[in-house]
Amino acid sequence: MSSAKFVYEGKEIDLPVITGSMGEVGVDISKLRSSTGAITMDLGYGNTGSCQSEIAFIDGEKGVLLYRGYPIEEMVGASFLDISYMLIYGQLPSQDQLTKFRKDLDRHQLIPENMKKILEGYPNTAHPMAILSSMVSSLSAYHPDTPEEVENNIVRLMAKLPTICAFSYKQSVGQPHIYPRSDLTFAGNFLHMMFATPCEPYQVDPVLEEALNMLLILHADHEQNCSTSTVRMVGSSGANLFASIAAGVCALWGPLHGGANQEVIEMLEMIQDDGANYQKYVDMAKDKKSGFRLFGFGHRVYKNFDPRARILKVQADKVLERLGINDPLLEIAQALEEVALKDSYFVERSLYPNVDFYSGIIYRAMGIPTNMFTVMFALGRLPGWIAQWRELHNESSKRICRPRQIYTGEPKRAFVPLDQR
Ligand code: CMC
Repeated sequence: MSSAKFVYEGKEIDLPVITGSMGEVGVDISKLRSSTGAITMDLGYGNTGSCQSEIAFIDGEKGVLLYRGYPIEEMVGASFLDISYMLIYGQLPSQDQLTKFRKDLDRHQLIPENMKKILEGYPNTAHPMAILSSMVSSLSAYHPDTPEEVENNIVRLMAKLPTICAFSYKQSVGQPHIYPRSDLTFAGNFLHMMFATPCEPYQVDPVLEEALNMLLILHADHEQNCSTSTVRMVGSSGANLFASIAAGVCALWGPLHGGANQEVIEMLEMIQDDGANYQKYVDMAKDKKSGFRLFGFGHRVYKNFDPRARILKVQADKVLERLGINDPLLEIAQALEEVALKDSYFVERSLYPNVDFYSGIIYRAMGIPTNMFTVMFALGRLPGWIAQWRELHNESSKRICRPRQIYTGEPKRAFVPLDQR
């Protein structure tokens, strides 16, 4: 094993170097503080490895994304359940394993009937991500957190999340909840619960079904991003699956993370309403004082095209064409991308479109409202979160996540009682 040398105030220590299966190198600093008294500072954790994981690999310089070794481009034609099984359990399922997985999920699709009362308590204006996080957390009130139930709870959560997402949408539009159907695919069933009504038969459109299946797969995992790290952080305290994933949902909600897909569409609408002046918005994004960022652009890890965005750009065109939809926002997005990619500010900083740039255009074409976009991201990310939580849960050497800090407050001083201030 190779090592790195760390020298501080005359003390020199050897730090072991860990090499991953794709050649990534990490310096193990776990003995740094006990040997030198120093800690590392890494704002935003851009250089910090928080775990070793077998689930996903990203090469940000080359624009590569692998789930358990399989390239994202080769998986988009598979079924979301196939990919979910592989992420969670570690290998591609046989036909029998997939059939059993499917049957297990079918049995658990319903949410406890009285959970609907919780849903009904929310105002129609509630953001669906607020509902989603609390409903996921509420599942732990219904399903016990015992060691024997861990694997069952994984299946329960995979099965119930689409029902929760679709029910919360129905609630927001004042329509009756539509119960799940076991004869449909994961994507088909979700569309059915979202768009069917009790008044007329609903036929799942195969174009939408295929597009949703692809979108779910593209979002299924992305190694140690903010929400996944949150799931692991919360899980490291011993918190149950539902509580850990509810925390991940909250982390995803932020506009710099999964919430960016909603922001992108709102930004494109703003540009459209403002006469489609792309250059003005590119200039605003470059001006730090404006407080405006080009949503759907830039990524902590990708310094090249996000491979998911590459796929989505082509698919957005195709899906809209197959549906016969002409969405002016697609044209604005394409033009904005072209302007930004030629601009030296974006070129120098390696800012490319990310997964959120084109996904919203497809969700819109499906009839999914803008405030549900981040819920769609969560639905896709669920198998990844579960896989990451399960990997951590099964580790024998796990430790609670507990970063250190450099304190910059007042030095020790005497407390002043209230009557002496
Ligand atoms: N528009 C304008 N400038 C940007 C943008 C942007 N979208 N993204 C980064 N920059 C600039 C940033 O101001 C900084 O400039 P300088 O070096 O002059 O200070 C430089 O590029 C590096 O950016 P950073 O903020 O240090 O990068 P980060 O790794 O901390 O942040 C990011 C990554 C994704 C939060 C950021 O690129 C961003 O805010 N993008 C817009 C929001 C977005 O689309 N988020 C979705 C991310 S992908 C899916 C997901 O994770 O959910």
